[in-house]
Amino acid sequence: MAQLIGGLGTSHIPAIGNAIHKGLQQEPYWKPFFDGFPPVQQWLNAKKPDVMVIFYNDHGLNFFLDKMPTFAVGAAPQYVNSDEGWGIPSLEPLRGEVDLSWHLINELIAKEFDVVTCQEMLVDHACSLPLKLFYPEGNYPVTVVPVCINTVQFPLPSAKRCYALGKAVGEAIRSWDSSKKVAVLASGGLSHQLDGERAGFINKAFDLQFLDSLDTNPEWATQFSVHELVEKTGTQGVELLMWLAMRGALATGGGSSVKRVTSNYHIPISNTATAVLALETA
Ligand code: DHB
Ligand code: FE
Repeated sequence: MAQLIGGLGTSHIPAIGNAIHKGLQQEPYWKPFFDGFPPVQQWLNAKKPDVMVIFYNDHGLNFFLDKMPTFAVGAAPQYVNSDEGWGIPSLEPLRGEVDLSWHLINELIAKEFDVVTCQEMLVDHACSLPLKLFYPEGNYPVTVVPVCINTVQFPLPSAKRCYALGKAVGEAIRSWDSSKKVAVLASGGLSHQLDGERAGFINKAFDLQFLDSLDTNPEWATQFSVHELVEKTGTQGVELLMWLAMRGALATGGGSSVKRVTSNYHIPISNTATAVLALETA
């Protein structure tokens, strides 16, 4: 059976892509953010996952307001980046892991997560940027399965539901008939609000408590309703639902405890409180 080796989390912001493109990683504004990544890169280099299941939110590219699935799973041989243009000008397509896609889809639907299946799927910075941050040399050595969670148009799925989705994904990965190594990845958050009266809102105390909870008390944030999470983290900070799904996936299997490999928290980049995290399964 496939091995679920750990989970990663990172913020996504188009401006990060622009900084990579212009080589600004050592500039004072960017350094504290990019400095969080070498330990993750080293961990990936040592553990060498073959596949990444990416929990991310689309931002109106593949799904617009007229058709908005709550949960969607990619089942495409490749995923072309077609972002809004503020980030890296051209990104290589991500290679799909179609066999795992269909295994996930079958297992999720059997467990009553009625996901939308996407045999064609454009992806944006939320799906593409994390790989660029984790594999800065390019030529990603991983294939991917994107799992999209709606954080754009209400009603959004609850924190409890996202954690349960993550658990079902984790169980499915561990029951995949393959000798491959799989990591799960969360893209989004932490606290941020891009528009409205609270534009620029950041909640460091909540972010740090949330990050702490992921070590040993991962269900902590499931006590909050989506509206409470928006109040605490901002309208876009609710992207932290991805991190809950990622952690839910790790909470499966015999010894479901995790070891924190590394983490970094830095505010702000653009309007966002940024974090990066790597967790290893026991
Ligand atoms: C920003 C943050 C996001 O999550 C996003 O998707 C786009 C932009 C920002 O802070 O600029
Ligand atoms: Fe976003």
